Amino acid sequence: MKFNILTLFPDMFPGPLNHSISGKALDNKKYSIKAYDIRNFSGTSNKSVDDTPFGGGAGMVMRADVLDKALNFVKNKNEGIHTASIYLTPSGEKLDQKMIKRIVKYDNLILLCGRYEGVDQRFLDHNQIKEVSIGDYILAGGEIAAFVLIEACIRLIPDVLGNNKSLINESFEDYLLEHPHYTKPAIWNNIKVPDVLRSGNHKMIAEWRKKESLKKTKKVRPDLLKLYNSSKD
Ligand code: ADE
Repeated sequence: MKFNILTLFPDMFPGPLNHSISGKALDNKKYSIKAYDIRNFSGTSNKSVDDTPFGGGAGMVMRADVLDKALNFVKNKNEGIHTASIYLTPSGEKLDQKMIKRIVKYDNLILLCGRYEGVDQRFLDHNQIKEVSIGDYILAGGEIAAFVLIEACIRLIPDVLGNNKSLINESFEDYLLEHPHYTKPAIWNNIKVPDVLRSGNHKMIAEWRKKESLKKTKKVRPDLLKLYNSSKD
């Protein structure tokens, strides 16, 4: 997979993605990242990319003409490759594991990271750009959101995770959160690991884990439990 980032802060990339699992995958060319500075497409001597909003109001809006030049430049460089374009914004559809699975089917992603109040809607509509939010809170810009989306994609690329089994039984795979995990020592701070986990009885362990998953999901994510229950109908 190739990730093309349109940003005012290209030096932020690859940033945290240079570390741990995603860093190793980057070294091994399992994916690539290229950040483009939107200011290079401004066409003005002061490299301005935004202007005041029609209708008034606070903040500045990123210009459609500037963004379109940047997008077309990246599209032309990647002609013929299965590409999706995404704008990271708190006003977008909320990202979840299902959306990530749809996104990783593309070979090439163009991720637009906004700053300021937003971007000219005509640019998004004209280019059929999908608006994606990573959650109901406001960040200063889309860059950190892009990191989140990219890392969630990278770990689904074949052979990126050391043990492919880690992808099975993950939280959200069937709407349930994961069961709790324990490791040595068996007694820590006078607290014992549940006996069943040390019993060697795989059937009982699986039952216990399922019960704990349901209990945790009910407690912290009743919305997911509803989805789980209706998926079983
Ligand atoms: N930009 C600012 N806040 C954001 C969010 N919650 N998700 C995606 N992009 C953003």
